[in-house]
Amino acid sequence: MLLYLHIPFCDSKCHYCAFCSYTDKAQLKKPYSSAITKQFNFEVQRLEIKKGSINSLFVGGGTPSTFPASLYEPFMFAVSPYLSKDAEITTEANPNSATLSWLEGMRSFGFERVSFGVQSFDDKKLKFLGRIHSQKEAIEAILNAEKVGFKNISIDLMYDTKADTKKLLQNDIEIASNLPINHLSAYSLTIEKNTKFYNHQNARKESLVLAKYMVNSLAQKGFKQYEISNFSRGYECFHNKRYWEGDDYVGVGCGAVGFYKNRRFYPSQNPQAYIKNPTHQEVEQLSADDLRLERVFLAMRSNVGLLMDDLPQKLKDKLTLLADEKKGIVVEGRFYNLDYFIADEMALFVTS
Ligand SMILES: C[S@@+](CC[C@H](N)C(=O)[O-])C[C@H]1O[C@@H](n2cnc3c(N)ncnc32)[C@H](O)[C@@H]1O
Ligand code: SF4
Repeated sequence: MLLYLHIPFCDSKCHYCAFCSYTDKAQLKKPYSSAITKQFNFEVQRLEIKKGSINSLFVGGGTPSTFPASLYEPFMFAVSPYLSKDAEITTEANPNSATLSWLEGMRSFGFERVSFGVQSFDDKKLKFLGRIHSQKEAIEAILNAEKVGFKNISIDLMYDTKADTKKLLQNDIEIASNLPINHLSAYSLTIEKNTKFYNHQNARKESLVLAKYMVNSLAQKGFKQYEISNFSRGYECFHNKRYWEGDDYVGVGCGAVGFYKNRRFYPSQNPQAYIKNPTHQEVEQLSADDLRLERVFLAMRSNVGLLMDDLPQKLKDKLTLLADEKKGIVVEGRFYNLDYFIADEMALFVTS
């Protein structure tokens, strides 16, 4: 079982971002701390979560580093008995708010992995994206995380933006590769509704050449692609992989979707409403077909593969065809995609 905690607070709104996050609700942080603890205790009862059975905790946002470390204490106190001994415990963080003392505080609760939203080390590109940190702050935050003992450090980069050139991306990768990180996520910019970029004509570059250049340059620096947007230099994120394999996960917090067996749970996306009633959720029932479709899409985008035994014959035949065409391989009954750039096309072919 996986656990995801959502922190819906940010210092500012980036031009591309449609995540559930608010810049004007800092006064809700304290009551939010109580609400998430209350919801977690509710989930323990409802889903009959056993002590030691949660294999990973991922705190995402929004910006987890805008939430003071002390406000995590009641939640971590409630969660700790349910974490397995070797659980992966990750927090996202933004370079401008992940201070040395915040990082130390999180370490003291058992966090061993941190993922920084860097996006770029180029100050002009950062401005273009609406980020409020600089290259200097990003590097400092990563080095501070190493200093306070985070074992696994990851960064997010963004590409396919109008600001990109080969030279800029090469420089970003060069700087990244000299930092003490063992994981990197590189996201191609998507234009989302209700963002500044939505009305911005040319925010995306739409260059497949640059996208391939990014993947190849990362490979040259030792970052091996294990999912369409994720690269490992010795560490693959356990939480992500289990999620792509279709594991159950508990979602705690405003807008934090949960998944258990064949149901999906949606708490309110509005922090005030969530705090008022943290255990209220809309429930979606998923059919076997829905679940299979999702599984195929997630498997095609990553190296977790797809167990063929459980699939209907029609799907198995299509996967065999893809393997015959060398677009994938079958190892011990699992199909593995060999070209993540055409992952969605392959998934559509298999499921149509
Ligand atoms: C949950 S988000 C935000 C985490 C953190 N607050 C931050 O800004 O770094 C995680 C990552 O998703 C990526 N992301 C968010 N919106 C995106 C978009 N529209 N297109 C591509 N990547 C996006 C960014 O790289 C971001 O770091
Ligand atoms: S990208 Fe991160 S910091 Fe920027 S608005 Fe979205 S969640 Fe907040």
